[in-house]
Amino acid sequence: MIRLHLNENPFVSSEYNRYPDDSYLIVRRRLKEFYNIKNSEVLVGNGSTELISAIFLWAKLQGKEIVFPWPSYILYQELDCIYNIKAKKINVCLRAWDLEQIAIEVPENALLVLCNPNNPTGTFIPKHKLKELFANIPSSTTILLDEAYIEFIKDELKGGFAREVDAYRNLIVVRTFSKYFGLAGLRIGYAILSGDYYKQLRPFLQLWNVNSLAEKEAIMCLRDVTKYEEKKQESINLRDQYQQIFHENGFSILPSETNFLCITHPCIETITERWMENGFLVNRLASYKHKDLAGYIRISIEREKEMNKLLKLLS
Ligand SMILES: Cc1ncc(COP(=O)(O)O)c(C=O)c1O
Repeated sequence: MIRLHLNENPFVSSEYNRYPDDSYLIVRRRLKEFYNIKNSEVLVGNGSTELISAIFLWAKLQGKEIVFPWPSYILYQELDCIYNIKAKKINVCLRAWDLEQIAIEVPENALLVLCNPNNPTGTFIPKHKLKELFANIPSSTTILLDEAYIEFIKDELKGGFAREVDAYRNLIVVRTFSKYFGLAGLRIGYAILSGDYYKQLRPFLQLWNVNSLAEKEAIMCLRDVTKYEEKKQESINLRDQYQQIFHENGFSILPSETNFLCITHPCIETITERWMENGFLVNRLASYKHKDLAGYIRISIEREKEMNKLLKLLS
């Protein structure tokens, strides 16, 4: 094919002098093969942030009430403000969600947003419990399941819903290349969803919303996940090791199935100040305005050298 149709500039020789394929066929096909998806579609986004934002806006325009357990991913609250949604937040305990209560509070024709494992707590709801919940959600209600951290759980195959979308027509699973695959700077995420949702949501995204480098790297990631499994194991081992050390140092820690820890301590303010004075950025969770979360902070698992420095500052 001789490309005379897009005003590209072939005089500058670069691998990136052409626009990407705006249907992202190759990466979408690779994702379908990877998850053995037969009847559903894959929509790629400029990070899963773009997809989640698009789904919120779509839901608002559809007149759907947006509902999510709280505390959960801060982006949901931000979108609530940006789009003036007035979402319904269901207050949940930090360690375990009452799924029966959630089922009762979700109306017909809504958008239920669930983050599993949950950010910022790190806690995880097993698949069989989520299946029970889904069975009690009206089929007119769309379920947005944000699985940004799913690869960090013990057995992703048994825990995640990427391979289940064919069986749930009202389910949209959103995942990202930013966490497990470590491509946060490239901005690529994806949603697995029915063909009908695909058609409705694609117009909410820009034409070339994912750049060619991101697409190429994502395809490379899927080629062989052995390396990523090893890296994940490294991060999980460190997480468990530091969890134990924090525990021995008087911290209270929420059980995490992610690459971060949600922790508190009777002297959390002093400790946080000390860490921050020494160049560590941590996420103070008071901004969530959830009474149980006020004294907690969230820290991600960095490499051993940085984690050891962090611990040294405790003494
Ligand atoms: C739960 C959750 N979902 C989605 C995202 C967004 O990820 P990205 O836009 O990098 O794909 C994050 C980022 O921290 C997250 O924690």
